[in-house]
Amino acid sequence: MRPSRGLLLFLLANLLLIGLLLHSVFTLLTLLFEDCSNDAIPAIDIPAPDALEEINKLPQYIPKIIHQTWANESIPEKWQKAQKSCRDLHEDYEYMLWTNEKARNFIAKEYDWFLETYDNYPYPIMRADAIRYFILNHYGGIYIDLDDGCERRLDPLLSYHAWLRKTTPSGISNDAMGSVPNHPFFKSVLDSLQKYNRNWQIPYVTVMYNTGPLFLSVIWKEYLPTVKSEETRVRILMPAEYNDHPWSFFGVYKGSSWHRNDAKTIFWMGQHWLLVTVVVFAFCASLYVCGFYAYRRVHLRDSNYSAHASPFSSWSWPWSKNGYKPIKHEV
Ligand SMILES: *[C@@H]1O[C@H](CO)[C@@H](O)[C@H](O)[C@H]1NC(C)=O
Repeated sequence: MRPSRGLLLFLLANLLLIGLLLHSVFTLLTLLFEDCSNDAIPAIDIPAPDALEEINKLPQYIPKIIHQTWANESIPEKWQKAQKSCRDLHEDYEYMLWTNEKARNFIAKEYDWFLETYDNYPYPIMRADAIRYFILNHYGGIYIDLDDGCERRLDPLLSYHAWLRKTTPSGISNDAMGSVPNHPFFKSVLDSLQKYNRNWQIPYVTVMYNTGPLFLSVIWKEYLPTVKSEETRVRILMPAEYNDHPWSFFGVYKGSSWHRNDAKTIFWMGQHWLLVTVVVFAFCASLYVCGFYAYRRVHLRDSNYSAHASPFSSWSWPWSKNGYKPIKHEV
């Protein structure tokens, strides 16, 4: 049988659909291959922890403030050591602990246009994600997750206008970030929160893509081409400078449950969130395409056409002279 025009059109429509889907996950795909080398903070630019003279010569743009978040003032014991390590090393920094109550009051007072979205986030972690972008935008300073301890003073990280941390194997995390107040990157983050506020049905994807690291990575990737000066640039703290080396800034004190065997899958997903998300997207896309195709076949069989009939045979094309002819195709 010669392929009918309808069949070709059907294939074309599917290609178009796949193209559209690919386009919408294009930023995600490019993130998989982004090595951040253009904006990485080179190890050589970071003075050794005891090179005080060199450190004191660095400019200071980011204000000396450390921000952390927790539900209330009683920090769980497993994180007290990490919290103390940062506070003890930075007695000359202002320390701000953002409890749920303080965080909500702050949003209500300074960003009331966001309060409704903030209150209606389905998971508390989403509020914890969002608040850190707002406080960095408002006060500037360095945000640190409670399970990150400080291994050395963060002064060299104050010499940039904004920085984020690269995760392995790909993407950007939001567990340690620094910025001057009103940095255009964080402004675009704030401006995007409502646009990205969608329920993806899968809690993991919803959290990641609405407020979490995946959201931040996509906004960052889209922000990159708009950077025009050193002030607007967002520098990237690379994994070796983040932890695990004598010159690294942070040490990770993850809660012990995180490392238990039964949590291995979740841990792996946490490490490979970008890959997981792309796979979930691809899976949904192929489900959609298969479902569409199956639907057309069933639909055609039910309406008593040959299964080989073109899925579009019941359409009347404006350019076909005779219009729709309800004849059974002979195969
Ligand atoms: C603080 O928050 C934690 C976590 O939500 C909760 O378990 C604890 O009871 C709270 N403590 C106080 C004093 O409210």
